[in-house]
Amino acid sequence: MDYKELRAIAKEKFAGSCRVCPVCNGVACSGEVPGMGGVGSGAGFKNSFEALAGYRLNLRTVHAVSQPTLNCQILGLDLAMPILGAPIGGISINMKGALTEGEYTKAIVTGCRQAGTIGMTGDGPKAEWYMDGINAITAEAGYGIPIIKPRQTDKIIELANKAAEAGAKAFGIDIDAAALVNMTNAGQPVGPKTQADLEYIKKNTTIPFIVKGIMMPDEAALCAAAGVDAIVVSNHGGRALDATPGTAEVLPHIAELVKGKITILADGGIRSGVDVLKMLALGADAVLIGRPLAIGAVGGGAEGVALVLNKLAGELRTAMLLTGTADVAAVSEDVIW
Ligand SMILES: Cc1cc2nc3c(=O)[nH]c(=O)nc-3n(C[C@H](O)[C@H](O)[C@H](O)COP(=O)(O)O)c2cc1C
Repeated sequence: MDYKELRAIAKEKFAGSCRVCPVCNGVACSGEVPGMGGVGSGAGFKNSFEALAGYRLNLRTVHAVSQPTLNCQILGLDLAMPILGAPIGGISINMKGALTEGEYTKAIVTGCRQAGTIGMTGDGPKAEWYMDGINAITAEAGYGIPIIKPRQTDKIIELANKAAEAGAKAFGIDIDAAALVNMTNAGQPVGPKTQADLEYIKKNTTIPFIVKGIMMPDEAALCAAAGVDAIVVSNHGGRALDATPGTAEVLPHIAELVKGKITILADGGIRSGVDVLKMLALGADAVLIGRPLAIGAVGGGAEGVALVLNKLAGELRTAMLLTGTADVAAVSEDVIW
């Protein structure tokens, strides 16, 4: 299967829930939640895409970098690329059932592992959704990271410990889902967490703890102070709060405060290896990819996910060579024009 075939199959299977646009920028699907878009005006999604597009790169070719290193260590894991699979849940409602929840999580977790990296899985009002992720992770010898909704702290700890028993390499909470009505309506309250709550979760769990959905430098610092292992600078693909800035706009301010103190992951509108390099130059240690991997999963299962990841890695390698960047662990901010 090639990339073009994969996209054609995906487009048919999405049945309009994702249009598989030539440029995945949040315009055609704006407001489509449920669906694949950003909430409300869709600005959060569009701003992430546009912010990245606004950065330019310095082309450099008088140097000795001909074999850039993409391998990296993230949360103690040896990865072939600084690119991870983002958690996506609610396949039945968001993708018109293009795949079952179980098929989707398996495609992401297995496809990421095939490409030498790691994928995340989601959580939702139906208990099976979380367990579909855990089952996919178990089948891949623990190579997966479940992201739990910001439920009551003891429930988070219970689910995180279930992940640890399954051998998961880390777990997280998508703290920006703090106002998710479908959780509350299903009698499973979610909400914001205090620094003390984060400390309590960290103290009562055994595997690395990720907080996904941080957009403010001061809150990144609170996470670091609470002993959290990693943050994901993310606006949830523009699906939590309307009118949020692009993640590439806030990332340098967050990095200024916590780079080196906590692992910084980031996502939102990353569509090419050039975009990955930009995010690394702006302060991320690694990035997460959402919708492009959904297209891979729906179009070609695990193989499709691995194909999209390897395409991104190839583009990143080219961009590193053409900016004189030797190693993803040391991307200079001078890469940005
Ligand atoms: C349909 C859909 C469902 C999502 N479900 C979850 C989820 O269950 N948990 C979570 O942490 N993030 C979820 N996200 C957000 C993604 O993990 C990620 O932050 C975002 O999609 C990244 O932006 P990108 O799609 O532009 O790459 C979802 C995103 C989409 C599009």
